Amino acid sequence: MQYKILVIDDDNDFVDATKLLLEANDYQVITANNGQEGFQKVKKESPDLILLDMMMTYKTEGAETAKAITADAAVKDVPIIMITGAKKEYSFPFELKADQDNLPIKAILEKPVDPENLLKNVSIFLSKRGKEHYESMSMTEKLISKWKGKEGNLIMILHEVQNHYGYVPRNVAFDLSRHLDIPLARIYEVISFYHYFKLQEPGKHIISICIGTACYLKGAPQLLKEIKNLLNIEEGQITQDGMFQLQGVRCLGCCGLAPVIMIDDKIYGNLKPNDLIDIISKYTNKKVSVS
Ligand code: FES
Repeated sequence: MQYKILVIDDDNDFVDATKLLLEANDYQVITANNGQEGFQKVKKESPDLILLDMMMTYKTEGAETAKAITADAAVKDVPIIMITGAKKEYSFPFELKADQDNLPIKAILEKPVDPENLLKNVSIFLSKRGKEHYESMSMTEKLISKWKGKEGNLIMILHEVQNHYGYVPRNVAFDLSRHLDIPLARIYEVISFYHYFKLQEPGKHIISICIGTACYLKGAPQLLKEIKNLLNIEEGQITQDGMFQLQGVRCLGCCGLAPVIMIDDKIYGNLKPNDLIDIISKYTNKKVSVS
């Protein structure tokens, strides 16, 4: 498989030299001369890696482009190597460091870039991405060959992916886009149109709180308030550690035990708000406390 690398830089000499270097090492290279064009190419071309110049038309253009990429669900996982000649000369309005949680920047290389160091970094981040890619690939390939040429194949494949993972991982959406030759944006349109498809990995434990009539009358609103308070999330959300997902349901079929919650497939009935700390704590290694 040939990896695709996008080089975003307004320095044509650097772009040409980098393109030559990468192509000589069997990478496919596409280029853009500014942040806006670069962002559009990220969306359109689905590159495996981005080399992004920090200072183009203005000194933080690269960082703004990285932020725009991070904010776009369809492309936020594409790794970025930031290239800068300005790291020492300017203070940026944010801390410029690699591997921040909120930015996909994996490394920062200073100009003039040592070709060997560049190739080493490219190889590291592509092999990491390649591993994830490989893990998802076999299943994606199987699904594609199963549904290829059949009407409505995208929906059928997305259903199988959703059933398998509990959501549609971004790297699978990338693979589908490439192999089915469907724009990534179209795939995300379909995913967001149908409520059934999810883009986020589900919580490890699903807490279903019944807000059907019997439970409602017996205190479900107070239970719901207490669970939200304990987990610090709203209905439909997942806790930051991914441990719990909270959802409201209409009836769990055991109204005689009202009010009722279900965690995964275990029912807890006749509950009072005070019972919840101990129940939720059973699913964690630490005691849950009231905030
Ligand atoms: S209304 Fe809650 S279990 Fe039926």
